Amino acid sequence: MEYIEICGGKKLSGSVALHGAKNSALPILAACVLAGEKCVLENCPNLTDVTASLKILEYLGCRTHREDDVVEVDASSISPRDIPDELMHEMRSSIVFLGPMLARFKKVCVAMPGGCEIGLRPIDLHLSALKKMGADISSEGGRLICTAQSGLHSARITLDFPSVGATENIMLAAVTASGKSTVVNAAREPEIKDLADFLNSMGADVRGAGESVIEIYGVERLGGAHHRIIPDRIAAATYMACAAVTGSNITLERVNCADLDPIIPVFEKMGCDIGCGDDCLHFAAPKLLISPGEIRTMPYPGFPTDAQAVVMAACCVCYGTTVFTENIFESRYKHVGELIRMGAKIKTENRVAVVSGVSNLYGADVVSRDLRGGACLITAGLKAKGITRVTGLHHIDRGYENIEENLASLGAQIKRVRNE
Ligand code: EPZ
Repeated sequence: MEYIEICGGKKLSGSVALHGAKNSALPILAACVLAGEKCVLENCPNLTDVTASLKILEYLGCRTHREDDVVEVDASSISPRDIPDELMHEMRSSIVFLGPMLARFKKVCVAMPGGCEIGLRPIDLHLSALKKMGADISSEGGRLICTAQSGLHSARITLDFPSVGATENIMLAAVTASGKSTVVNAAREPEIKDLADFLNSMGADVRGAGESVIEIYGVERLGGAHHRIIPDRIAAATYMACAAVTGSNITLERVNCADLDPIIPVFEKMGCDIGCGDDCLHFAAPKLLISPGEIRTMPYPGFPTDAQAVVMAACCVCYGTTVFTENIFESRYKHVGELIRMGAKIKTENRVAVVSGVSNLYGADVVSRDLRGGACLITAGLKAKGITRVTGLHHIDRGYENIEENLASLGAQIKRVRNE
């Protein structure tokens, strides 16, 4: 079994360039299903979730090619095929292929995505929206059979919750549907606007992405496009947490500071100095962090749920007590037990976690049980006295490109050990 081994207590310095946003690349790759010609994606991160999406596209008959961070997808000879269960289960968010495949093929059968490490992850909002656009959806033996024989039509859809995935699926279904569709209470995450920018460069007409009402005017067909994916704001938050917990000064390159508006104030409350340049961020942490008080995860532009775990790692060694409320997912505290094994003082009750700052953490053998929980344990290991070994790296590799190399280049004593 492979693990990441960290000898904690080292200060970090220098700079690290961020990879492209995983949560932008995934819906954009699904959008390539709609393209009549080749699409070229720059700054496309090399992550196992991205590889899983490319496998689905190849299975559908697309030609794909990767050279460094540039990925080409040619869907001109795509054919309607049901995505096999193993490919659907490899990555939960492959449900975002449903909208574009229904739009292009009028019929698709996919396995229900399983729950995942952070909760049930229902897709009721996705399905009710597609039904409103004319899809017939039935389920049989854990698979969804979706048809829209006369094609999808426009609709006005109000989301009970500003679901990122549901907003993306509706956009992908509506861009070639006849008429004007409106999404009310749409998700406002930066990745939504990045998807809209990509779709519009293919010839779509999506207006208002990034706001809570999005209008989509259906067009006949979509061509190819050349698009640069936005930087990964959660990777940025992760490296900021690594610098905070080790009292370090680092620079992040290829970052979009505007996307970090919900995150920067939390680190500033902790006593960190943050300066933003055009596409870089200078981060200086104090010797002793101060608790930011309360952290409530909310839909964008609130504090992102994906940054909750890594910021909690920093709060473990803050002066004072921090109260987290996880409002987005019902079980996103799987990293808490492992942090406690490292000496953290944390109590959880349903969606609330109370973190009482301690002066030290201690190295331990810990297991990551989900993507951001894994990043949290690496962050804590950078601070902990002694050796920390993190297993469950398949979770971490879904969302971080070369995390141990990047941290080592900043001065951390960290390496990946592959047991024969
Ligand atoms: C996206 O997941 C991200 N994943 C998640 O990032 C992120 O945590 C989440 O948005 C929230 O920002 C990708 O973009 C690939 P949601 P998604 O639909 O689309 C409930 C990471 O670590 N809900 O906004 O699945 C749902 O149960 C990952 O990078 C319904 O009830 O999130 C959850 O409680 C983790 N019915 C809440 O909404 C639905 O039909 C947020 O879900 C859909 C969602």
